[in-house]
Amino acid sequence: MNITCELLEQSKRCALPKTDKPLPFGQLRTNHMFLMDYRDGGWHDARIVPYGPIELMPGAMCLHYGQTIFEGAKAFIHDDGEIYLFRYDKNCERLNHSARNLCMPEVPVEDQMEATLRLVDIERDWCPNMPESSLYIRPFMFATQDSLGVKPASAYTFCIMLSPAGPYYAGGFSNAIRLLITTKYHRAVSGGTGTSKCGGNYASSLQAQEYAKKMNCDQVLYLDATNQTLEEVGTMNHYHVEKDGTFVIPAFNDSILKSVTSQSVLELATMKDLPISIKARSETIRVDEFVEGVKSGDIIEAGGFGTAAVISPVGSYLLEDGTEITVGDGAVGKYSRQFYGYYSTMQIGRNPAPEGWQIQVPRYGE
Ligand code: COI
Repeated sequence: MNITCELLEQSKRCALPKTDKPLPFGQLRTNHMFLMDYRDGGWHDARIVPYGPIELMPGAMCLHYGQTIFEGAKAFIHDDGEIYLFRYDKNCERLNHSARNLCMPEVPVEDQMEATLRLVDIERDWCPNMPESSLYIRPFMFATQDSLGVKPASAYTFCIMLSPAGPYYAGGFSNAIRLLITTKYHRAVSGGTGTSKCGGNYASSLQAQEYAKKMNCDQVLYLDATNQTLEEVGTMNHYHVEKDGTFVIPAFNDSILKSVTSQSVLELATMKDLPISIKARSETIRVDEFVEGVKSGDIIEAGGFGTAAVISPVGSYLLEDGTEITVGDGAVGKYSRQFYGYYSTMQIGRNPAPEGWQIQVPRYGE
């Protein structure tokens, strides 16, 4: 792929703020972004340009019918001073899964990879080197065709922006969150777009999220449309831990987003000779059995897995009837802590990662 670069002069570039405090999630921007346009059946004009406004016609179809998809991935700086993308091929593949689901064009995985490596190389000074922080990578695509007919658009823009970021939930890993379990709102239904990272899934979760906040909860743990089984949390997959330390993740049906972190847990559980023993499985989980398990103490820990959220322990759940159930003693449990320690240390390169999980950012030179 031929990528042209229009870079800001050094004197006009901003730098990563120097701070000892955790970085906020999603607020900071680097100096440049990657753009590429789709028209006449192909991708054109791959370019790295200064981060700034994008021109869009008022009739651009993304603004009306929501053809927008995105990804979330992370790059970390290792002790050798080099930057590595963590399992980024998984994100590229998932972007294309979302594209197919929303009748949008795919971006070849090798082009997504090259664009990201080139951009991160240019922005390498923005990769934070502090606990619970990383360079968050946000690739996204949106329909740009100026048309009001409801149909797949014929023109799109693919963009990659970067954001040095800290933990998604303020307080980070050590702060167990509180989830609302409700039958009032649903995230996705079978046959819909639940397995995709599309804007619409997140837009339709906002009302539920606001409701959860009103109830003093951090997020919603969604149920399936028949209110029988656990699905996922608005920003991450869900897990619970059984007494013997097994992580149990709701089965990836056709309305749950397949988190790269959840897949990593399940894959690691099949591997030998790891520094810690990991037991994990994925299965359909009935909500009544889950609530009973928390109450009886058979479920000793719970939380969420996601790229932004990493591992976010859950301390308690608020139920529809207003009762609250506490997981264990409500604090971060030992299995979640042990796995978080292992996984986050692997992400920064201090624990060996399985073959292919770390992708080093080459030094292309500007
Ligand atoms: C991620 O985990 O990267 C996500 O995209 C979740 C996001 C909605 C913050």
